[in-house]
Amino acid sequence: MAQGSDHVIDWPQLHAAAAAAAARSYSPYSHYPVGAAALVDDGRVISGCNVENASYGLTLCAECSLISALHMGGGGRLVAVVTCTLDPESGEPKPVMPCGRCRQLLWEHGGRDCLLDGNGRVQPMSDVLPGAFDASELSP
Ligand code: THU
Repeated sequence: MAQGSDHVIDWPQLHAAAAAAAARSYSPYSHYPVGAAALVDDGRVISGCNVENASYGLTLCAECSLISALHMGGGGRLVAVVTCTLDPESGEPKPVMPCGRCRQLLWEHGGRDCLLDGNGRVQPMSDVLPGAFDASELSP
C-alpha cells in the first residue's frame, strides 16, 4: 500500500489487474499484449487491454480500453495507473510505458498528479507528459 494524495494505492493489486487485462488482449498481429489498470478516485479498480485489427492502424491501445471502462463504470478521475505487457516466454508481466497518444488520454482523465508505473517506478503524469496540452489551453 502507498499513499497518493488522498488515496491509498494498492500497487500490487494494480499490477495484478494490469497483468490479468493483458492476458485478455486481442493482439494476433503484433503478438504484443498490453494491459492497463487504474485506481479511480471513488475506489474502483478498472482495467483494459489492447484490441488489434486487420487494418493495423485501427488498433485500440490498452489505455483506450481503460478510459472506456472508466466512463462505462460511472466516470471519475484516475488516481494511479499501471501498464504492462507479458513476457512471451515466461508469461510474466513486464512494464511498458504508454505511447504518446495514450499519455494524452491518461492526462485528460487523471491530470498532472495522476501516478503512473509503466517502467518499474512511479512517476506523476507531469513527468510523463511534460508541457501537456489540455482543456486549460482552450479557455479564453
Ligand atoms: N500498445 C498499447 O496497447 N498501449 C501503448 O501505450 C503502446 C502500444 C499496443 C498497441 C499494439 O496492439 C501493440 O501494443 C504493439 O504496438
